[in-house]
Amino acid sequence: MIRILRDRPIGSVDPRLHSGFVEHMGRCVNGGVWDGEKVNEEVRAAMAEIAHPVLRWPGGCFADDYRWRDGIGPRADRPVRVTAHWGVDEIDENGFGSHEFVDFCRSIGTEPWFGLNLGVDGPREGGDWFEYANFRGDTTLTRERAANGHPDAFDVTYWGIGNESWDCGGKLSPEDYAKAYRRMDAHLPSFSNVVRPQFVAVGPDGNNAGEAANWTERVLDEWNRWRTPRVAWWDAHFYLWATDGECGSITEFDEWQTGTLFDRAAKLDDLIVQQRAILDAKPLYGRPRIDLCIGEWGVWHGGGPPTEIRYHGLRDAAVCAAMLDTFHRHADKVKMANIAQTVNILGAPINVSEEGVVVRSPIWDVFVMYRAHRGGVSVPMEADDPRVLGSATLHSDRTVVSLVNSSHEPIAVALPFVPTSCRMLAHEDITARNLPDDPDRVRARAASWNGTLPPLAVALLES
Ligand code: AHR
Repeated sequence: MIRILRDRPIGSVDPRLHSGFVEHMGRCVNGGVWDGEKVNEEVRAAMAEIAHPVLRWPGGCFADDYRWRDGIGPRADRPVRVTAHWGVDEIDENGFGSHEFVDFCRSIGTEPWFGLNLGVDGPREGGDWFEYANFRGDTTLTRERAANGHPDAFDVTYWGIGNESWDCGGKLSPEDYAKAYRRMDAHLPSFSNVVRPQFVAVGPDGNNAGEAANWTERVLDEWNRWRTPRVAWWDAHFYLWATDGECGSITEFDEWQTGTLFDRAAKLDDLIVQQRAILDAKPLYGRPRIDLCIGEWGVWHGGGPPTEIRYHGLRDAAVCAAMLDTFHRHADKVKMANIAQTVNILGAPINVSEEGVVVRSPIWDVFVMYRAHRGGVSVPMEADDPRVLGSATLHSDRTVVSLVNSSHEPIAVALPFVPTSCRMLAHEDITARNLPDDPDRVRARAASWNGTLPPLAVALLES
């Protein structure tokens, strides 16, 4: 039996909870979004169907090495660089830079998020990029932007200040990060005629509960010691680690291993509860409240370096659905989340094979199905069977419920309403996935609700 507690509104599901992330890592940008000369049109179409409200770029760890000037001007003149964060030498010709990224975002109705380099550059470079992108007046930098094809400002709202500064972004202590952030903030000019920027601060490693509390408390304490910086977002990262064999692999797993996978996914809830408590207990003096963002989340399987293409299956889609449901249940505090990453690597909804075949993974189906939740008021949903997970949203004209079966057994579920529509992501083979030679093996389909949730299925019901 499912119960929907309609009289206990949590908050509105911010569409930005369904946001994305593309990094210059593996074949995510180069070989994924970007084919070397232009955007891959099939990827554009697949991403337009997901409709991420915000897209984060250029990293990740890559952002703290990135020289923004490498990615502007005639492509033939752009420098070729190497990065090696993941044990792999990655060569980048810089064909996909600020202009290409912003044009791509605008073409699919997504807002760009630029990640500023706090690792090796700093306020001077950050301020220049900010002026180049957003200033609407006539300066040397904005003339250069115009000469490169963009007379109008990019109007980038979201600006990350560093990435994982506790590790690849500099291995900084919380206090050192707080000071570096304050310095960057102070030197990002408050131009009068720019779109109002929202700065994203580096939150904790969400996979390490003790360190996560320590990081957040100490950064906030340091900021409150002296004049507080502008901060709109606190960006915690959480990966569903499945690299140690305890969760099986993408295609081979038993029910115990699936239980482990879902148990680990449930730690996301603990992280959100912990972080929101600290943020609420330590407001920044004289500043508006800081919203919580999970700027990187997703399933991270082993079996090779993380730069390799991963083709996910039904089980990964089900656990991602459960994590989106977790965000919905904290809709009053968590306002943005970015799947890591949208194309090809880690928990990708979209794959592009080395031969160029575009494959929508079952995770893609979940994102498309869950669009129905956006903008609705999240309310608690209870299930008698603890193996049934999900979330519920109330809209002016309908109720939307997503259900996830976290087990290998079919489960009978009694609904408190008669659904007017049902989309079901399920497969008789629970290890099934989509591959280049069979790209639509696992697909969400319209179904008539028969009262049973198949193993590892995701259902989207409306009434
Ligand atoms: O998403 C892949 C990597 O994971 C990112 O570059 C980094 O921020 C995180 O550790």
